[in-house]
Amino acid sequence: MKPVISLDRVTKVYQNGKVITKVLKEISFSIFPGDFVSIMGPSGAGKSTLLYILGCLARPSSGWYKLDDVDVGTLPDEELSRLRNEKLGFVFQSFHLIPQYTALENVLLPTTYRRARKKNGRKQQNERARRMLDMVGLGERYHYLPGELSGGQRQRVAIARALMNNPEVILADEPTGNLDSKQSKEIVRLLKELNKTGRTIIVVTHDPDVGYQARRMITIHDGVIQSDKTCSLTS
Ligand SMILES: Nc1ncnc2c1ncn2[C@@H]1O[C@H](COP(=O)(O)OP(=O)(O)OP(=O)(O)O)[C@@H](O)[C@H]1O
Ligand SMILES: [Mg+2]
Repeated sequence: MKPVISLDRVTKVYQNGKVITKVLKEISFSIFPGDFVSIMGPSGAGKSTLLYILGCLARPSSGWYKLDDVDVGTLPDEELSRLRNEKLGFVFQSFHLIPQYTALENVLLPTTYRRARKKNGRKQQNERARRMLDMVGLGERYHYLPGELSGGQRQRVAIARALMNNPEVILADEPTGNLDSKQSKEIVRLLKELNKTGRTIIVVTHDPDVGYQARRMITIHDGVIQSDKTCSLTS
């Protein structure tokens, strides 16, 4: 099987004036389709930076990153955005929902960036958005605003939105960071269900209860991979 994600000696360096910070130091790993990977490590270790690179939101300073065999580093910005839109779905700690849009409108957002639109496109997209909200258990709350939903429900809207373009890979940065333990469990259960349907999931988390639910756990410390192992917890 070919990896969906493959990193080879990826580094990320930031320069602020004379200060150079090496945030990622020669990171190499591959992730295969259908895997569920958690990325753990202390604050400042470089987890979000790594996820941004995986998500094509930032480019490596050196090294290679291949997404579905496409060398991301050499792509022009426009093609990078298209690739991101087609293949990746994002979930963030603070949900990133637009407060004045309903749940349904938020879920529809990724489709508004698409150029080609068929005659019936709108209707089909609406139906898909409703299906995605049904799937995350919010079928009766299409028209609620984010402010009228609980934290866990908001995150489920964000997950429905991440699924809208049917991405191969879901990238989540601390998806349970703003949730209580009951809501966290629901979100983890949902991610596991999505993984069972074949989607690749990569989740950055501080929370061992979340991290150990993955099939594979990569820990990073100070920009270096410290361990990369299979988790024994399953189901
Ligand atoms: N734009 C930037 N310029 C300079 N340094 C940066 C920049 N972005 C991040 N860093 C530094 O890179 C390091 C890693 O940051 P990152 O956000 O990846 O950590 P993290 O592991 O996600 O931490 P946390 O668990 O707190 O979210 C930090 O020391 C941070 O200060
Ligand atoms: Mg972070």
